[in-house]
Amino acid sequence: MGRRDKELLENIEIEAIAAEGKSLAHINGKVIFIPFTVPGDIVDVQVKNKRKDYMEGVVARMVQPSPSRIDPFCSHYGLCGGCKWQALPYSVQLQNKQQQVVDQLTRIGHLKLPDITPILGSERVTEYRNKLEYTFSAKRWLESALEADNLTDNDKAGLGFHIAGMFDKVLDIERCYLQPSPSNEIRLFIKEFTINNSYTYFDLRKQTGLMRTLVVRTTTIGETMVIIVFAYEDKDLRIKLLEAVQTQFPQITSLNWMINDKKNDSISDVECFLYSGSEFISEKMEELSFRIGPKSFYQTNSEQAYRLYCVVRDFAALTGDEIVYDLYTGTGTIALFLSKNASKVIGIEYVEEAIEDAKANSVNNNIKNCSFFAGDMKDMLCRSFFDINGTPDVIILDPPRAGIHPDVAKVISEAAPKKIVYVSCNPATQARDIALIGDNYKITKVQPVDMFPHTHHLENVVLMVKKD
Ligand SMILES: C[S@@+](CC[C@H](N)C(=O)[O-])C[C@H]1O[C@@H](n2cnc3c(N)ncnc32)[C@H](O)[C@@H]1O
Repeated sequence: MGRRDKELLENIEIEAIAAEGKSLAHINGKVIFIPFTVPGDIVDVQVKNKRKDYMEGVVARMVQPSPSRIDPFCSHYGLCGGCKWQALPYSVQLQNKQQQVVDQLTRIGHLKLPDITPILGSERVTEYRNKLEYTFSAKRWLESALEADNLTDNDKAGLGFHIAGMFDKVLDIERCYLQPSPSNEIRLFIKEFTINNSYTYFDLRKQTGLMRTLVVRTTTIGETMVIIVFAYEDKDLRIKLLEAVQTQFPQITSLNWMINDKKNDSISDVECFLYSGSEFISEKMEELSFRIGPKSFYQTNSEQAYRLYCVVRDFAALTGDEIVYDLYTGTGTIALFLSKNASKVIGIEYVEEAIEDAKANSVNNNIKNCSFFAGDMKDMLCRSFFDINGTPDVIILDPPRAGIHPDVAKVISEAAPKKIVYVSCNPATQARDIALIGDNYKITKVQPVDMFPHTHHLENVVLMVKKD
């Protein structure tokens, strides 16, 4: 550790909430970002990072907690990278998210806004996620090197989440409040079984060890998918574990495995094999049923996804005659949800498997007016595509955090649909994109939706109506 790392700042009062789930204070006019604090806390701060314009630090000692602080419910608070806002009452979290939307749309996009309706909070504030990915680590996070010296290899192994901001440090999780049962039970069983039977855990630095990651997906209708990811094939050990998991958890409806021998943990490009049960799990929304494959995207908070889609349907206010484009359609859920109110719906998305799911979802739900196309948006969306498939009356946009490509904004602007409903998980890029699409649109409605309690993340829906 360098000398700078040890610098201690005493009695610092936290002033406000900042980006990425942190809070901030000022020291001699310079901003310092500190995670796991709330406005009004007085803390001693250890400086970790000094940059020209700002500093980053961690709490060395809580001197006086803020009157607005509440007790975090999770024993892993303060280390785990999830649920960083637990010490803030949920009503305060929601106020901050609402403010984030106003700030970003006005400061970044310089957009003129109507009155923004209050954010739709999530009824469930724990166990709201339908998908979690846990990581195995041969060297779980330990408070000190001294602690490590006294542990066996088994005791050093961990299965859980990355420490806030550290891709190579995994915190062993005892109980996570994010996903309903049997998520915790499955993770704990797999940990106990693998440790008792001497399975090795992955070491990211050395690139050794068998057990890599574990994905658990659940649905509101009680189906469960499990994907166990190994670093290499050891057929005996693999089958022994899969058999034990299936026997212990008969409620698992889709049990899968993968071999990921790449350097990174991403499994989007790794082949998935079914061990037992069905290749898919299903989710229901009104009269629709969606199949979800091991690699398909599905909105992570199913109940709030429904409320989000209802906002989209409300904002689009379709009469039944419109040609609707659902851009960045994923597995086609918004397209299918809107289909009965539209003349036809076109969905575009670049993950081919997701488009296969969208087509299957369309057939399974007996929907005949939706077509789905796979490809990169900036290559797919062009004048000739509109000539073949029809010019859009309404465009739904739901891109990833990075927002849309400038070429896509240009094509949308030229196509001049009557309405654009822009759904975004990042109001900063949303603001930029709306400004790019141009002055021919007036923002008439803005509705933030909270999909992720105890985090700084949110979804925001904007209705843009073409000016006469
Ligand atoms: C936020 S998700 C929206 C999914 C869907 N609307 C839903 O509600 O489930 C964004 C989607 O955009 C897709 N995507 C990202 N970049 C893309 C690109 N350049 N072209 C086409 N699709 C893209 C992702 O694969 C992902 O499915």
